[in-house]
Amino acid sequence: MSKRNKTSYTHWSSRWTFIMAATGSAVGLGNIWKFPYITGEYGGGAFVLVYLACIAIVGIPVMMAEVLLGRTGRTDPIHTMISLSRQNDAKAWWAIIGVSGVLAGLLILSFYSVVAGWALDYVVKAINGSFSNIDAGQAGQLFADFLSDPTQLIISHTVFIILTAIVVALGVTAGLGTAVRLLMPLLFILLLILLGYSLAEGDFNAGLNFMFSVDFSKLSGEAVLVALGHAFFTLSLGMGAIMVYGSYMPENASVAKTVFIVAILDTVIALVAGMAIFPLVFANGLEAAKGPGLMFVTLPIAFGHMPGGIIFGTLFFLLVSVAAWSSSISLLEPGVAWLEKLGVKRWLATALLAGLGWLGGLACIYSNNWLDDKEGRYAFEWMDHIASNIMLPLGGLLIAIFVGWIMRRSAARRALSDTANFWFNLWYASLRVFSPIGIILVFLHSLDVI
Ligand code: PFF
Repeated sequence: MSKRNKTSYTHWSSRWTFIMAATGSAVGLGNIWKFPYITGEYGGGAFVLVYLACIAIVGIPVMMAEVLLGRTGRTDPIHTMISLSRQNDAKAWWAIIGVSGVLAGLLILSFYSVVAGWALDYVVKAINGSFSNIDAGQAGQLFADFLSDPTQLIISHTVFIILTAIVVALGVTAGLGTAVRLLMPLLFILLLILLGYSLAEGDFNAGLNFMFSVDFSKLSGEAVLVALGHAFFTLSLGMGAIMVYGSYMPENASVAKTVFIVAILDTVIALVAGMAIFPLVFANGLEAAKGPGLMFVTLPIAFGHMPGGIIFGTLFFLLVSVAAWSSSISLLEPGVAWLEKLGVKRWLATALLAGLGWLGGLACIYSNNWLDDKEGRYAFEWMDHIASNIMLPLGGLLIAIFVGWIMRRSAARRALSDTANFWFNLWYASLRVFSPIGIILVFLHSLDVI
């Protein structure tokens, strides 16, 4: 992979580099922390099914569109949208896709880095042997005590933001690709070990039943919106992150195949994480709808009892932190690439945006203590709601409409020239009709209009 430089817009040397970078962005806290806890909150099977449908019907087509826009525009999302609008005789206000993406990225970074800080802190707890022989009550207490200590939360959040900013400031996508290539498979192996443990020691039937037996009566309008929002969040879609990565993608790589691989890897990791966590939830008498602490309360119980638990626990939380790291980089990249194009030095652009994310994180940490609403929702869940369930799907809707209706068909065909006619037509129909209608229906349903 080539290192980015300022004078010429460089491309990554191979399709695999793009796959690694995009997988690094996609696989993160969304898969291991968020997917299990929202599945728990929204009732299991039916939610999982709708989420999978959203990935297939909306996520994959929109991801292809976003990569294609980036690769055709070859610059940051805002300038890409301006120049592609001009080329297609449309108004430059399509740049709103890029602008809202930069804002959504900052909003997500604000809470993402706080939760990544939790994972970092749990690395230390694992090394210290804090999980040893822990039961469900003690694991819950450990997490509650941790959350009530703002100093600790701020330290971990700050460390994480600094780590993210360093990589973004250096533009070291090359190093990142290598890290992802080595560490993501390791994370997957650890998840499989946890899955094995759950199979042996957890209530595996109850776990699987919860995740896969579909009961639509449990599915609220809000749940459907959350499932759609999560499809966007987990694939890093609708905010320009994948567009920037697409802008570095080589011309001869197949957009369809690469996107497919990334989406499959991302989905499998989320499902395995859920299948490892839920059997432990039921075997330990915990609540599935426990909320954002779900992973941090259940997995320590497993690590506290399995042979080699200190090593596995340490490695696991370390790898979750690395996965979060490679994702948070892509939260900053669209904004930094944009400022850089405007002439701001890369390090300054990074410091500015990371600083805003850091402040957002502080707001999150402090507001959690006094802004808890009556349902016990953490303040950061509101940030998550606005960014993931509203801004990202709206961004995705605009991307689908732009590529499906505004961009010339011939330009889209050229960008996907290696794709057979049948698949191209299916994708094009999805973008023009199925994905936009799907997104609009979900919005209307969540507003109780239908
Ligand atoms: N996809 C990441 C995850 O699942 O953890 C989160 C994320 C990264 C969302 C980058 C959006 C984004 F642009």
